[in-house]
Amino acid sequence: GAPVEVNISKLEPGMLLMVEWRGRVVWVLNRTPEMLESLVKIEEEDVLADPNSEKNQQPEYAKNHTRSIKPEIFVTEGVCTHLGCSPVFRKDIAPADLGPDWLGGFFCPCHGSKFDLAGRVYKHVPAPTNLVVPPHVYLDDSRLLIG
Ligand code: FES
Repeated sequence: GAPVEVNISKLEPGMLLMVEWRGRVVWVLNRTPEMLESLVKIEEEDVLADPNSEKNQQPEYAKNHTRSIKPEIFVTEGVCTHLGCSPVFRKDIAPADLGPDWLGGFFCPCHGSKFDLAGRVYKHVPAPTNLVVPPHVYLDDSRLLIG
């Protein structure tokens, strides 16, 4: 499939944009400073299965602690790595249904897999790996090319 160009100039902090690439949903999330802090906090909790992205679910340039090129902008496929359901973006911190170790992220309603705000999978859930970060590049400050 052809690469998809996305304009992110109007993507406010905390907002998620959905685009389609190769018949798949790709999310672009503009993370707030609080959301970025949560990525550090959750590593201290030791609840993630692959916090350092060792399983190569992302291009080399996104193999870092935020799993992104720019710290605030997170690009990921919106496809659960268990059986392919679409996870739900949940910003809330420690809601009753997701537990005290939940600091915001993506929850898959099909079988209960949990991913943090960098798409990193929690331990003890059905999904075996982090969400997939597709190949992408910035053409300039407001234009992102996926694919
Ligand atoms: Fe997401 Fe099974 S498809 S938990």
